[in-house]
Amino acid sequence: MAKRRTIQDIVAMKQKGELISMLTAYDAGFAALIDGAGVDVILVGDSLGNVLLGYDSTVPVTMDEMLHHCKAVRRGTRHAVLVGDMPFLSYQVSESEAITNAGRFLKEAGCDAVKLEGGTEMGDRVKAIVRAGIPVMGHIGLTPQTASQLGGYKVQGRDAESARRLLQSARDLAAAGAFSVVLECIPAPLSEVITREISIPTIGIGAGRHCDGQVLVTHDMIGMFEKFIPSFVKKYAALAPLIKEAVAAYHEEVKNGGFPGDEYGFNLQLDVRSLLDD
Ligand code: KIV
Repeated sequence: MAKRRTIQDIVAMKQKGELISMLTAYDAGFAALIDGAGVDVILVGDSLGNVLLGYDSTVPVTMDEMLHHCKAVRRGTRHAVLVGDMPFLSYQVSESEAITNAGRFLKEAGCDAVKLEGGTEMGDRVKAIVRAGIPVMGHIGLTPQTASQLGGYKVQGRDAESARRLLQSARDLAAAGAFSVVLECIPAPLSEVITREISIPTIGIGAGRHCDGQVLVTHDMIGMFEKFIPSFVKKYAALAPLIKEAVAAYHEEVKNGGFPGDEYGFNLQLDVRSLLDD
């Protein structure tokens, strides 16, 4: 049986040239399926807000919501490294709040690490959380929690100045002690340079093939989330139409009496009419 992966295993994969697979999960059932398929890292992303909770962005997601779902994912995860996403304003306000909240992911939810958004400006925060003994995954490029500051959900690092800033951010996060960094919506040639320049693994999403690993939102790649699918998502399945078809068939059969047939009920070795004679 495969052993439980560690943060050190993930870092070593870059050194060995072994690509890292990461997917999101928000509940125990999906976590068990993803873990069982051998995925290296499971992220309880704050994409929870869009995908499961019906919010329009990740901004409203709370610590309590994140911890509730991380605990469920922990129960379904046996082998993968489990990373909990720190929600908006859980780490920006002060160093002590950031450490306390990051610690809750480990102490209360059983996560192995936390992820937070931001580059150079988050260097000191990352350093403080790591110093407290909590492994941190960085996240730069398109950072959804601050998408409004970035002018929307757009590819980042297209001009020389912002490309330079992203490279510096990746270096600063590595220097601050992050064990890996997500590169979201960054042109492939830039993520190739960043990946070569830093010693920690880069995990790309819309960042091309040269990263040390890849992550997607599971509900996007299995075709369950139909509201909006980014162009960088490869759909490995189209489950939403299958689910709709199954639900419509059930609804129709309940309405016309076709379900349940006798084969879906339980028999009784007793003359039920005798109960009425008493
Ligand atoms: O919240 C999330 O799912 C993420 C991934 C897209 C990297 O941050």
